[in-house]
Amino acid sequence: MLIRLFRSEDTAQIAQLFQDTVRQVNIRDYSKEQVTAWSPDNIYFRDWSKICSSRFTYVAEQNGKIIGFGELEASGHIDCFYVHYQYQRQGVGRKIYRAIENKAWELNLISLFTEASITAKPFFASRGFVVKEQQKVSCRGQTFTNYAMEKLLTTELP
Ligand SMILES: CC(C)(COP(=O)(O)OP(=O)(O)OC[C@H]1O[C@@H](n2cnc3c(N)ncnc32)[C@H](O)[C@@H]1OP(=O)(O)O)[C@@H](O)C(=O)NCCC(=O)NCCS
Repeated sequence: MLIRLFRSEDTAQIAQLFQDTVRQVNIRDYSKEQVTAWSPDNIYFRDWSKICSSRFTYVAEQNGKIIGFGELEASGHIDCFYVHYQYQRQGVGRKIYRAIENKAWELNLISLFTEASITAKPFFASRGFVVKEQQKVSCRGQTFTNYAMEKLLTTELP
């Protein structure tokens, strides 16, 4: 598995991966109405190419196929972080996260923070994040529970 920065030709795979993961993995913790609002039928509801190129977006690639991606903003905010539904719990998220944290150290950031879904909360907890607050957020007419989580960068990953 190769971890590398996003390239514009990754756009279609990432857009599809996002929809598939939300609808097939996050459905464990959210309703059908919620996952449909979260990942609209039009996979280009978000300008993936523009957004992913404007930040540090790491992709995991295996045999030419994208199996996960994670976005780090210069502030330390981790935005989208999704692993392909067929590659869950195989260490892909761990590898993408490592690239993000390495970059954060390089940028001299003091912390990383994210709004983790119910589904992703145990993953971020395993990476050393703590819950600051449970919150309710609105998206396209649906209300979602998620968790503001933070990790202070005081000790490097082993
Ligand atoms: C969260 C997510 C990105 C994690 O990616 P992943 O590749 O499955 O995670 P990894 O295999 O690297 O897991 C690393 C560690 O995290 C923890 N972990 C991951 N998923 C977990 C789960 N469902 N329950 C408990 N612990 C979990 C474990 O400690 C795991 O190590 P282990 O497998 O050796 O026990 C993935 O589950 C995902 O795509 N979720 C849906 C999308 C989502 O909600 N993204 C966040 C948006 S806010």
